[in-house]
Amino acid sequence: MKIVMLGAPGAGKGTQAQMLAKKYDIPHVSTGDIFRMNIKNGTELGMEAKKYMDQGLLVPDELTVRILLDRVAREDCRKGYVLDGFPRNIPQADVLDEALSKLGDKIDYAINVDVPDENIIRRMGGRRACLSCGATYHIEHVPPKKEGICDKCGQELVLRDDDKPETVKNRLQVYKEQTQPLIDFYTKKGVLHNVDGTKDMNEVFEAIVAILG
Ligand code: AP5
Ligand code: MG
Repeated sequence: MKIVMLGAPGAGKGTQAQMLAKKYDIPHVSTGDIFRMNIKNGTELGMEAKKYMDQGLLVPDELTVRILLDRVAREDCRKGYVLDGFPRNIPQADVLDEALSKLGDKIDYAINVDVPDENIIRRMGGRRACLSCGATYHIEHVPPKKEGICDKCGQELVLRDDDKPETVKNRLQVYKEQTQPLIDFYTKKGVLHNVDGTKDMNEVFEAIVAILG
């Protein structure tokens, strides 16, 4: 099963993708997480990606596409995967489509997690992220068991550099201009499903599972 998660920054794509990955036993592939791990480890890729991420801009397709295609070509992705944060514009979606169709394959479901802008700004300020394993928390809605420490891997939780209010505004704008057109793209392919992302995270999860069956 190959799933694409769509939705504005902070809509809950990562939260839901992790829950889906666990339930269906498929990898959660997040380009954002891959970039953040590279930044944390000080790699060349991380340094390059950071320039764009800190401004709320998309990392250039030349970098992003290669990383994603390498990742989904790995053995653990043979049964399927849940993509979170990719594709993020039409050219990325076209490349993914072509790569899959060469293998006689396709995306089975595109899940659009729908959340209005007002809720987004509130969610971002309270988010805490683990840069080691990609787990996401919220100081009110999804607190870790021990403050500031990841439940899953014991590493320190941080406020992401791109969760500052000015950067969040840019990210929302980039989303509207470049990513939102993917809703039409996947609707035309007959695989798009909308879920109300303002509900409690478990209710959102149930709605998605009802679609996937
Ligand atoms: P990325 O890491 O993908 O960030 P994003 O799309 O901006 O999305 P977020 O991770 O901010 O939000 P989310 O939807 O995952 O929400 P979450 O589950 O955390 O990308 C970051 C940057 O990397 C980009 O700006 C770009 O520069 C670069 N990049 C990445 N991919 C790229 C690509 N393909 N091409 C080019 N550049 C790329 O939830 C948010 C908060 O709300 C959390 O605190 C969570 O606990 C809480 N929450 C979740 N669900 C609920 C709920 N139902 N109710 C209440 N709270 C909730
Ligand atoms: Mg995310």
